[in-house]
Formats: sequence, structure tokens, C-alpha cells
Amino acid sequence: MNSSQTNERWSSRWAFILATTGAAVGLGNIWRFPYMAGNYGGSAFVIIYLICVLVIALPVLISEIILGRHARKNPVDSLTDIAKENNHSSKWKFLGWWGLSALILVLSFYSVVSGWSIAYFIKSISGQLNQLSPDQVGATWGNFMNSPWRLLCWNTIFMALTIGIVIRGVSKGIEKATHIMMPILYLILISLVIFACVTGDAHHAFNYLFAFKLSDVTPTIIIASMGHAFFTLAVGAGAMLMYGAYAPKNINIVSTVLIVTALDIAVAILAGLAIFPLVFAYNLEPTSGPGLMFITLPIAFAKMNFGNIVGAGFFLLLFFASLTSSINLAEPVIVTLMNKLQITRKKAALITGAAAWFLGVFSILSFNQWQNIKLLNQTIFDLISNATTDIFLPIGGLGFAIVAGYIMKKTQSKNELATSCSKIYSLWRFLIRYVTPIGIVIVFISAFA
Ligand code: PFF
Repeated sequence: MNSSQTNERWSSRWAFILATTGAAVGLGNIWRFPYMAGNYGGSAFVIIYLICVLVIALPVLISEIILGRHARKNPVDSLTDIAKENNHSSKWKFLGWWGLSALILVLSFYSVVSGWSIAYFIKSISGQLNQLSPDQVGATWGNFMNSPWRLLCWNTIFMALTIGIVIRGVSKGIEKATHIMMPILYLILISLVIFACVTGDAHHAFNYLFAFKLSDVTPTIIIASMGHAFFTLAVGAGAMLMYGAYAPKNINIVSTVLIVTALDIAVAILAGLAIFPLVFAYNLEPTSGPGLMFITLPIAFAKMNFGNIVGAGFFLLLFFASLTSSINLAEPVIVTLMNKLQITRKKAALITGAAAWFLGVFSILSFNQWQNIKLLNQTIFDLISNATTDIFLPIGGLGFAIVAGYIMKKTQSKNELATSCSKIYSLWRFLIRYVTPIGIVIVFISAFA
């Protein structure tokens, strides 16, 4: 039963924080959060998202890490062990498989979008976007999207980079990569915020993000905010369970998770404060959807001095953020394949990369050749990204909440949380047993009723 137990450990608490923050901070914060806020009227989305992060997703993050550190196995085997230990059905392993399916699907479209960041970094730094008119910026984007081969090429490069890191393992691959990329990411982000707030319309951006009107809130906004809360904290699929499995015993989970969550929220807000002051200063619309980073911002870059450098900074930021998340998406799948098929990390990583890459082709074609194919009224890309974020992750999150709150014995979870303050443990337990599951169910009912 112990055969798949991992001996890998993060080398320090700091390494754990960096890797976990790397997983959390990604496209979700820099690309998705600003355009979702833009689509859903700014502050209404921001405030509901913050509430969902704190009372729903954060307790699930703690749960996943507890479960992983307790069992120290891949998500499927961890859940099997924990259920059996507590005399519950080993069918809970299906929650692990559910999560792994979500991870492969997310990785497939994640890598496609992340590939765009490399392409646009090169376009910016080489001056190809300089002084283009808004129409020309739009046409550049249109041509890019219409070219499946180019999209495939960037997707392949990004996937190869992801697999190239995870293939090296936990300490030489994931830990080293996050040690290098995360500090640079923060430096770039802070420079961009200062630049945008000094040269752009910071006042308008603040109002847009934070002036809350209850009347703006609709069920659609609530479900989108909840889905985004799961996506941004990387919870609901077992990816954080896997990182928890590498956490040394002496690390305080609550304080670590609070730091990770605070950094994750901070990056989303800072990304908003780097983007919207420029959008408003150049009289652009914040509502352009997924194209906000690739059409609206480049229009602003084209008009400003040193726009190519600022633009390159944005796309490099997006690239680093997404790479530290894509390795987190791949890792649990790789470890499960290694254990289940008894193969090397190298083989498992190549299979995982190839599978996600292949699925990514469907997303790529939905921007061009297959753009008219609609399933449930959505393109394939939209369907995969919305279904994973708004349905797969929250349902997975509900499962993890039940396992950590009801199946795992109180003594076990208490031992893992081992906080000096018993109130914190009681608060977490209350949230995970009642608030999180009821919250998820209510949001689903209100959205689909
Ligand atoms: N948290 C990542 C982001 O915000 O881009 C995305 C993500 C990573 C989602 C890992 C889910 C996951 F398991």
C-alpha cells in the first residue's frame, strides 16, 4: 500500500511557498482576472471573487494540502488511502481521477494561451507592434488567430518548456524554476503598476475595480466569480494536494496558505492596476474579453513612448506566471502515471505533455477552421475553459471539502494543521464542513435553476 508514497520534499518552507504561489499565480491572475472583471462590470465581480476566495476556495486549498501531506501520494492513491483508513469506500479515488481529467483539460488550453504570450513578447520586443493603428493591432491579432500552424508552433514550444521542467523532478525542476521565475515576476509586475499608475488614469481604474454596487450582482457573475476563485487558487483538481505531498512535516500549513492566498490576490489586483489605468488613459474599452491583453493593451502600447519595452514586460510577466502554473497542472498527472503504469518520470512526463498537446489542437482549431462549430452555444475553446473552471473545479472542490471535513478523522486533520491557536482549526473546520459545501451548492443551484 505504501509503494507509491513519495520521498520528495520541498527543501524549505520558502521553496514550498514559492512553488505554491507559482501554481496559484498564472494566466488566471494576469490574463483572466482583468478581462473577467471587464466583462462583468468591474467591482461586482471583484468583490464576489474576493469573498469566494476567502470563504470557499481558501478552505479547500488548506484541505488539499492537508490531504496530500497526510497521505504523501498522487491524488488517486491519497484519496484511496484516506478513505480506507477511515473505513469509507475506496471509490473516493474517482475524485482523484476527476481532478486529473480537469488538469489535463486545463493544461491543454492553458498551454495554447500561454504560447500567445511568447509570440507577443517577441512581437513587442522586436518593435512589430510599434505605432500600429488600433485597426492594425486588431488585424495582427486576427491574422495570428487565423493561423493554426503558428498557434500550434507556440503551443508546442510552451508545452515543451513545461515538460522540460517537470521532467527534472521536484527539486531540480519545479523548485529551481519557481525560485528563478517568481521573484522576477514580482519585479516586473511592480514596475508595470508604477508605470501604469504614474502615466495612466489610476483614479478611474481604482473606481472601476472597487466601487461596489450591489445592483450589479447577478447569478452569472456569482458563478463566474466562484469558478474563478477555484481557478486562481489552483484548487479543486488535486494539483495542490500533490504539492502538499511534498511539504515537510514541520511547515505550518495555515500561515503558508495565508501567504500564498494573499500573494495570489495581490497579483490579480496589481495586474488590474497595471492594465486598467492604461486602458482608461487611452480611452479604450475594458470589456473586450479574452482579447484585452492581446488587442486592447497593445493598442495602448502602440501609442506610448517605450511601448515595446512596456509591452514586452507584460508578456514576459504573463509567460513566467503561466509556466509556474503549467508545471503544477502537469505534475499530479505525471506522478499518477508513474505510479499506475510503473514507468519513469521521463516517460510519464512525455505522455502527459503529448496528451495535453493533442487536446490543445481542438482549442487551436476553434479559433480558425472550426470557429463555427458550437457545442452548447460555445466554441470548443470556450467550452473547455468554462466547463473546467466553472464546473469541474467547484465539483472537485466540493469533493475535497467532504473528504477533509467529514471522511478524514478530526484527530488526523487537527494533527496536520497543528496550529498553535485552536480557534483557527475550528474556523477552518466550520468553513470546510458547512460554508464551503453549502456555498458551492447554492451557487450551482442559483446559476442553473
Ligand atoms: N491558478 C492558475 C492560474 O490562476 O492561472 C491556474 C490553475 C493551476 C488552475 C492549477 C488549476 C490548477 F490545478
